Amino acid sequence: MGLLAIIGGSGFSSLPSLTVLESRSVETPYGATSAAVARGRLAECEVLFLPRHGPSHHLPPHRVNYRANLWALRASGADRVIGLASVGGITPSFGPGTLAVPDQIIDYTYGREHTIYDGLAGGIEHIDFTEPYCESLRQALISACARVGETVVARGTYAATQGPRLESAAEIRRHERDGCDMVGMTGMPEAGLARELGLCYASLAFVVNWAAGKSGNVITMKEIEDNLALCVERVSTVLEAVAGA
Ligand code: HPA
Repeated sequence: MGLLAIIGGSGFSSLPSLTVLESRSVETPYGATSAAVARGRLAECEVLFLPRHGPSHHLPPHRVNYRANLWALRASGADRVIGLASVGGITPSFGPGTLAVPDQIIDYTYGREHTIYDGLAGGIEHIDFTEPYCESLRQALISACARVGETVVARGTYAATQGPRLESAAEIRRHERDGCDMVGMTGMPEAGLARELGLCYASLAFVVNWAAGKSGNVITMKEIEDNLALCVERVSTVLEAVAGA
């Protein structure tokens, strides 16, 4: 079996409980990754780690080189990838502090390099995306939450928006009508590319604010950062439980 890789998002430029053994820059056909791929030990297990927004969080969601990141993780030996995702909560059971493992996604992003089948080399394939996340890794995340005593919402639809601005209240109402429970900026093209590359991909989402128009207040970075800080240790504990399983 290959390695488990973790893609860190906001709040996770590094993984506090990861002992890094080696950091390696990986050349890819798609250009530079967000950072060097770290190989380390988490709960006595070897894992790979890559911060999506770079080591100093300098890459906004639409500038992340998702293709390079996923290609590099696979080239480094990953066969499973957990994408960490801070999100805004849309439906009532997705209040701040909620952990969720989405089972569906809608892509509202644009202008991102979103496929390895771009017609320039190596033919074209239309991959199946009916179930966009890898069910075995989703279940591994859900049972890891149970083992460490974390309540988790075991399904939900993720709206992937372009960012970096947050949404208007009308945009969020539209996402809600579309059936979305949570909103974030990096779920696509990450999930689609993982499927194209044959990687088993799932996401661990943590709600850091009510989405626009859902709380009656404007959304502040302070609110997001405060909630994020409360999630870091809980998410790290879940990741240790997944890695050690
Ligand atoms: N919208 C989009 N992405 C996000 C949000 C949000 O409200 N919160 C955290 N990531």
